[in-house]
Amino acid sequence: MSSQTLPGETSTSPQRVKPKTLTTLQKAKRDQIPITMVTAYDAGFARLAMEAEIDILLVGDSLGMVVQGQRDTLSVTMDDMIYHTKMVRRGAPTGLVMADLPFLSDTDIPTVLRNAGRLIQEGGADIVKIEATAAKADLVQAMTDAGIAVCAHVGLLPQKVRQLGGYRVRGRDIDDASAVMRDAEVLTHAGASMVLVECVPNTLGARIAKSIDVPVIGIGAGVDVDGQVLVMNDLLGMNPHPARFVRDFLRGRGAILHALQAYAVAVRSRSFPAEHEGFV
Ligand code: KIV
Repeated sequence: MSSQTLPGETSTSPQRVKPKTLTTLQKAKRDQIPITMVTAYDAGFARLAMEAEIDILLVGDSLGMVVQGQRDTLSVTMDDMIYHTKMVRRGAPTGLVMADLPFLSDTDIPTVLRNAGRLIQEGGADIVKIEATAAKADLVQAMTDAGIAVCAHVGLLPQKVRQLGGYRVRGRDIDDASAVMRDAEVLTHAGASMVLVECVPNTLGARIAKSIDVPVIGIGAGVDVDGQVLVMNDLLGMNPHPARFVRDFLRGRGAILHALQAYAVAVRSRSFPAEHEGFV
């Protein structure tokens, strides 16, 4: 199966594909080549995702739900994150691995530095992701100053689900849209090298990607962002109650590798997400 590659790549063989870095992702944004990202929680799926030439593997705290069977992500611990990040790193030795800072691992600067440091030094992550509003700019700045690459997760923040009373689309009215935009801008200004925006109207996803210099990855944020991320188990049709923005890429494909390749091709050709897989 042919697929578009990021700048500098010449081969479809996983062994010979050049490792992705923040620099190659930045160039992909500039060249308008969509970036592919998928969650992975273990070595086997990490290996498959690498073979499918997915650009970034996210060890998401969604593992609390899809691996551990919890009702949300709030019970995931730092030790859980380290355990799964290590496995993903083993399956994808040269992959670009991002790992989540779980609930309450970022309460203050010393705590976030210690925990982000563990994800990198013990887990082997390249980038850490923090669910954040502008109020956490000092944490992003401190991590950046310490040499840690940070992805700021804005929009719907699943770690706030119990406070908010459910998962809701963000940015549907002007004030909330401005708040999400401001979060993305302030956190980037504080040093975030990437932004992940979850569950916002397609038009807001597009505006954020246009006004922010770093790569903006969307989930439920429309097609006009710099890349897409999906939870592995969702794109393999394993979720009995998928969100609107999920597509089952395994249906009719017969093999998980083919599903992952189909997802990567669909992101790169911008045929995923379609209009009905986003929000207005
Ligand atoms: O934890 C996770 O898997 C995530 C994705 C939903 C983006 O943050």
